[in-house]
Amino acid sequence: MTDATKSATLTIDGNAYELPMYSPTSGPDVVDIRKLYAQAGVFTYDPGFTSTASCDSTITFIDGDKGELLHRGYPIDQLAAKSHYLEVCYLLLYGELPSAKDLEVFESTITRHTMIHEQMHNFFRGFRRDAHPMATMVGVVGAMSAFYHDSTDISDERQREIASHRLIAKMPTIAAMAYKYSVGQPFVYPRNDLDYAANFLHMCFAVPAEEYVVDPILARAMDRIFTLHADHEQNASTSTVRLASSSGANPFACIAAGIACLWGPAHGGANQACLEMLKEIGTPDRIPEFIARAKDKNDPFRLMGFGHRVYKNFDPRATVMKQSADEVLELLGVENNPILQVAKELETAALNDPYFADKKLFPNVDFYSGIILEAMGFPTSMFTPIFAVSRTVGWISQWKEQLADPQMKIGRPRQLYQGSVTRDYIDIENR
Ligand code: CMC
Repeated sequence: MTDATKSATLTIDGNAYELPMYSPTSGPDVVDIRKLYAQAGVFTYDPGFTSTASCDSTITFIDGDKGELLHRGYPIDQLAAKSHYLEVCYLLLYGELPSAKDLEVFESTITRHTMIHEQMHNFFRGFRRDAHPMATMVGVVGAMSAFYHDSTDISDERQREIASHRLIAKMPTIAAMAYKYSVGQPFVYPRNDLDYAANFLHMCFAVPAEEYVVDPILARAMDRIFTLHADHEQNASTSTVRLASSSGANPFACIAAGIACLWGPAHGGANQACLEMLKEIGTPDRIPEFIARAKDKNDPFRLMGFGHRVYKNFDPRATVMKQSADEVLELLGVENNPILQVAKELETAALNDPYFADKKLFPNVDFYSGIILEAMGFPTSMFTPIFAVSRTVGWISQWKEQLADPQMKIGRPRQLYQGSVTRDYIDIENR
C-alpha cells in the first residue's frame, strides 16, 4: 500500500472525518474508509461493489472507458497476438515475462502435473451422465483437497506453489474428463508431447478407436481463447476465490468456489447462454423482436454477451474474439455460418440502437466465443468449463497475491439491516 496522497472529508451530523486517499498507478483515486466505523460509527453501503475497491493488486488493470485490459501492464491484444497461454500464465503468476529458460522450466513443470490421481476416476463415475460439466467440475476440483493433502498447507510457500501448478495443469484434464463422462466415452489421458491447448483438444476429442491428430490451427485458436480469458481483475468469481481464501481455506476449495460463481449466466455462463440465444433468434429477420424484448423493462430477457460492469466501451477481448471467429470459421471451411451472420447483424442493430448506446452496452468476450467453440466441435455445455480452465490462472494469481499481502484480513462485509427489531418469542399455541 502506498502512502496517502490526499484526503477526503466526510461530514456526518456536523462532525468532519478526514479520510486518507491513495492514487493508484492507473485508474481512479480511492478513499480509505477502513477506520470509518471505528471513528464515526457508520458503514458505507455498496451492494454489488459498484464503487468499492476490495483489495490492492498489481496483476490486471481495466480502463472501462477506453476499453483497455492490461496484464502486468501488457495490453491483451498484444498478448493475444504475440504470446501464448502458458507464457501469460507465467506473467500473471510471477509478474514478468519469462526468459526462454524460465518458460521452458515452467512449461515442463505444468506438463508434468497434467495427470490426475487415478482414484479420482471413480469420483467422476459417481456423477450422473447428464450432469452439466460445470457441476462435475465444482465437485471434482473441491475434491482435489482430499487427494492432494501435500499441497493444502497455505502457510507453506512451496505447497502454495505446487497447488498453483497442479491446478493450472490439471484443470484441462478435469474439464475434458467431465466432457468425456457426459458423452459416455472413455477418459483420454494427457499427452506430454502436446502443448497445453493441443493436449486439451486431444483429451476432449480423441477416442481409442482411431488416431486423432490435433489441427494446429484449432490448437492456436484454443490457446487464444484461453489467453483472452486468463484474468479479469476483481470480477465476481475472482472475488469469490479471494473471499473464500480470506478465511484460510485450502486452494482447491477456493478454486471450487470460483468455479461455482463463474457458472452463472451473468458471468461465465453467458457464453453458453449467448449461443443459445443466437440460435433461438435463428435468422436476422427476428433480430428486432429480440432487441425489443431486451429493452422491455417488463421482460427479464437480456441480450447475452452484451454489457459489462466495467467496460463502457468495446471489450477489447471481444474485438480479438470477433476477428478470431472470422479466421477460424474460414479455416474450417465453414462459410456463411448463419449464427455468425445473426451475431454480426445483432451487434450492428444493438450498437445503432439508442437504448444500448445510452447505457454504453457493447459486446463482451462472450458474444463471439461460443461461435468459435461450436465450430471447433464443443457442445454449448462445455463453453463455461473452458472459461473455468482459462480463468484458473487468474484465480490462482490473485489468491497467491492475497496470501502474500501482510494486510490480509478475513473478508467480512456488513449490512444495512431492514428486518424486525428485538421481539419476544411467541409460543406456538399463541401464534
Ligand atoms: N441487455 C439489455 N439491457 C441490459 C443488458 C443487456 N445485456 N445489460 C445491462 N442492461 C441494462 C440494464 O437493464 C440496466 O438498465 P437500467 O439502468 O434502465 O435499469 C443497465 O443496462 C445497467 O445494467 P446493470 O445490470 O445495472 O449493470 P451491471 O453492471 O450490474 O451488469 C452485466 C453487468 C454483465 C451482468 C449485464 O450487462 C448483463 O446481464 N449482461 C448480459 C450477461 C453477459 O453477457 N455477461 C457476461 C459478462 S462478460 C464475461 C464475464 O466477465 O463474466
